[in-house]
Amino acid sequence: MSKCPVMTTANGSPVADNQNSLTAGPRGPLLAQDWQLFEKHAHFNRERIPERVVHAKGSGAFGTFTVTGDITKYTKAKLFEMGKQTDVFLRFSTVAGEKGAADAERDVRGFALKFYTEEGNWDLVGNNTPVFFVRDPYKFMDFVHSQKRDPRTNLRSGTMQWDFWSHAPEALHQITILMSDRGQPASYRHMNGYGSHTYSFINSQNERVWVKFHFKTEQGQKTNSDAQVADLIAGDRESHQRDLYQAIEDGNFPQWKVKVQIMTETQAEATSYNPFDLTKVWPHSEFPLIEIGTLELNRNPENYFAEVEQAAFTPANIVPGIGHSPDKMLQMRILSYGDAQRYRVGANHQHLPVNAARCPVRNYQRDGAMRFDGNGGGAVNYEPNSFGGPAEDPSVKEPALALDGAADRYDHREGNDDFTQAGNLFRIMGKEEQNRLMDTIAGAMAGVPEEIIERQLGYFSKADTAYGAGIAARLQRS
Ligand code: HEM
Repeated sequence: MSKCPVMTTANGSPVADNQNSLTAGPRGPLLAQDWQLFEKHAHFNRERIPERVVHAKGSGAFGTFTVTGDITKYTKAKLFEMGKQTDVFLRFSTVAGEKGAADAERDVRGFALKFYTEEGNWDLVGNNTPVFFVRDPYKFMDFVHSQKRDPRTNLRSGTMQWDFWSHAPEALHQITILMSDRGQPASYRHMNGYGSHTYSFINSQNERVWVKFHFKTEQGQKTNSDAQVADLIAGDRESHQRDLYQAIEDGNFPQWKVKVQIMTETQAEATSYNPFDLTKVWPHSEFPLIEIGTLELNRNPENYFAEVEQAAFTPANIVPGIGHSPDKMLQMRILSYGDAQRYRVGANHQHLPVNAARCPVRNYQRDGAMRFDGNGGGAVNYEPNSFGGPAEDPSVKEPALALDGAADRYDHREGNDDFTQAGNLFRIMGKEEQNRLMDTIAGAMAGVPEEIIERQLGYFSKADTAYGAGIAARLQRS
């Protein structure tokens, strides 16, 4: 006992007694002067920060990305130099549930990566699916509301979910993935990750190509059946967290092969689908996967709150050699994440150790709540200046991107094929997997009003007549 360091209050003053509050007599009321007691309570009352509005439940780990395939002809990003190793932090998550949600539930999974590169942090904030439910960010909030709780019953509602989806045919592709076996991964280690959006690579000649990122699990894809999920959740709501933490503690480091698809700007003008539409994949037959490296997770966080809860990923974080694309979902996300994090964590969240770049950060941002580093000290705080302050570097300017078209609110559903790729996915499944998919969908539609089912069945049938008919039969409709 005597070997323990002395406990202190937050101001560093030694604590004489951490067991008994200060009272007037042994049975008496508290004294207002017991500031140690009040400090302890007051801090406790402020322990929670708002949970993420989506992806609230998550697990994180540190690791490395090692380059094994040469793509320097496509990108000048230093992290892609052959053989290079870059430190990473990966946060997995479920999406729709709150912080107490059960890990094994049917849901999409988040796959958010932060690469601590020598030219700044690159965040690739993806999912375990290559596509998404909506293609216009105007519909994102409506979509999320429909998947969360009914405002009156406080229950999740199949009616809300299918009502939204049945008004959004572009969701069909992602619904087919969510309701398939892949909607219930056995663990975070046993699923793939995707950047999902189209991004760009820029090479040393300042030429652009479009790129999609894939992370293929080396543990093998493994999923849970409905019965396994029910069993698992009954005994353990933290099954994914436990699995990831334990594997890393045991030295059984999970790995993913990292691959890219590349499309030239000329090819992008000729595809039958919009290559910047987040509800579409690029067929691998036309745009083959190119292996570029290995991602390994090999260190558990020391402190969950500091490193996982306070982690802030944003698609805005890119580095020279990697750029965005005209995908309007991606464009909105560039703004949305930093905005959410300034509210959820604070204006200076990028200074926290898990979020901080591991290269010098030099700019003229100053002050703000909880500015806990030196705040730039006495250095000049405006630009341009005559005192040698940091200056811009035109060599990292991206090539110009040609755009055309009059400003308008274009109907994104007009002329868009929402059914072929969803149907292709259905058609490559084996009979048994198709049956499980249709069972799951029919089960999820129980109790949903007729009109909504009718509208949604039309979409399944357009993807594949057997898909629509199979679900209709299960709902006892002809
Ligand atoms: C988390 C917004 C689409 C993946 C979040 C958060 C917001 C948000 C506000 C919480 C951020 C925080 O508090 O730190 C949006 C908007 C979208 C969109 C506005 C579309 C317009 C997507 C898509 C993907 C995705 C398409 C995947 C391809 C994620 C992930 C997280 C997240 C993985 C959790 C990040 C973490 O682990 O901290 N999203 N999202 N989101 N989103 Fe999105």
